[in-house]
Amino acid sequence: MSKQKDSDDLLRAGAGTPMGGMMRQYWIPAVMSSELERDGAPLRLMLLGEKLIAFRDSSGRVGVMDHRCPHRCASLFLGRNEENGIRCVYHGWKYDAEGNCVDMPNAPPHQDFKDKVKAKAYKVEERNGLIWVYMGAQKAPPLPAIEASLMPEGELQINLVQRECNWLQALEGDIDTSHFGFLHTGSVQPDEVPPDNLMRWTVVNRAPEYHITDTDYGTMYCAYRPAEPGQTYWRFANFLFPFWTQTPQGPFDRVNTRAWVPMDDTHTMFVSLSWRGSPTSMRPLKNGQMVPGSRLGFDYLPNTTDWYGRWRLTQNPSNDWMIDREAQKTESYTGIASIHGQDQAVTESMGPITDHEFENLGSSDIMIARTRRRLLRAARAFAKDGKAPPCVDDPGIYTQVRSGDFVTDAKIAWRDAYELQMRAAVRPLAQAAE
Ligand code: FES
Ligand SMILES: [Fe+2]
Repeated sequence: MSKQKDSDDLLRAGAGTPMGGMMRQYWIPAVMSSELERDGAPLRLMLLGEKLIAFRDSSGRVGVMDHRCPHRCASLFLGRNEENGIRCVYHGWKYDAEGNCVDMPNAPPHQDFKDKVKAKAYKVEERNGLIWVYMGAQKAPPLPAIEASLMPEGELQINLVQRECNWLQALEGDIDTSHFGFLHTGSVQPDEVPPDNLMRWTVVNRAPEYHITDTDYGTMYCAYRPAEPGQTYWRFANFLFPFWTQTPQGPFDRVNTRAWVPMDDTHTMFVSLSWRGSPTSMRPLKNGQMVPGSRLGFDYLPNTTDWYGRWRLTQNPSNDWMIDREAQKTESYTGIASIHGQDQAVTESMGPITDHEFENLGSSDIMIARTRRRLLRAARAFAKDGKAPPCVDDPGIYTQVRSGDFVTDAKIAWRDAYELQMRAAVRPLAQAAE
């Protein structure tokens, strides 16, 4: 098969594509609960290339459906969200959260055929502050047991950020750890880092080696390099089907999982889930300052009602991500403020969809190459034979997976190092259940 065909099958997630078909087998995290008020304005929601609306009815139920009214396609975005349903403002037809037409007031009773009309509605679940959508034609599986998403609402930090590029190039930034020593910490010298700060090893040696393996949830890899004599510094990260990652952000106590949800082929919604009980381990340098340009958090533009209006950042392609050339010379490696802004800038700068033919993958891209192959194989197997992709039928697989960075005795093998960290890690859910 041609490289271009591989690329298209990997990157395109609209209806009728292999990847789009596979992604529609999974629950998709789509909207924060707080974005929808009872009887409030419907929200324009773009998912996998489909234009949808989301609304919360008078009873609190959430409906997600094609934005076009099944009568003559006026947008239900304009609709009246009232009395447990959304009413089209053109001729008054009304739909409940499941898409059933419950009123057809412009037809006399003997010509009313509302029982035969259904809006194209998707299944919706809400859990711990997050609204999930299932766009598949099959019976919906249980929600994925992604550990971070199971944290009680008050302990779960949810952040959404829109990225103006294809979902996979955005995701690949999370499984490409060697960029950390350049994009985020390229200006930091080893003697600036306190000896007990693990970041030190990423700047002492910016060219790690890797181990990688397929797993039942996706792919796992670790970057490794020497630490103190006789010790190894490890950075573990995961790809979980179909669009989730876990990145190293400290010890394995840090419960974090991140989704890169295709809005369409050139826009992605980043959904970050993390346990508030395990803050990130970014710590100051010896001078008491954080790494220049490494601010955490997000500066948002105000949300608008546009299809692409939610969760955009002030740093964006239209202003060159606010790159400061003076700061690039004197302070930070990029001159771009904030860790997320830096990631956003490089992946958006690739263009709307990366041209895989133009790339030259190197040893540091081993995880990216393996993950692409794994995704492509699963998407094509589903398209060809309907073979269920990983985790769909067994969502519990997700729960026992973590990422992180740590140091061990150099004699310990990489999978053993992972298992040891897993065993030692805090397990808030398991502990709560005891
Ligand atoms: S187009 Fe919606 S009721 Fe006519
Ligand atoms: Fe990054």
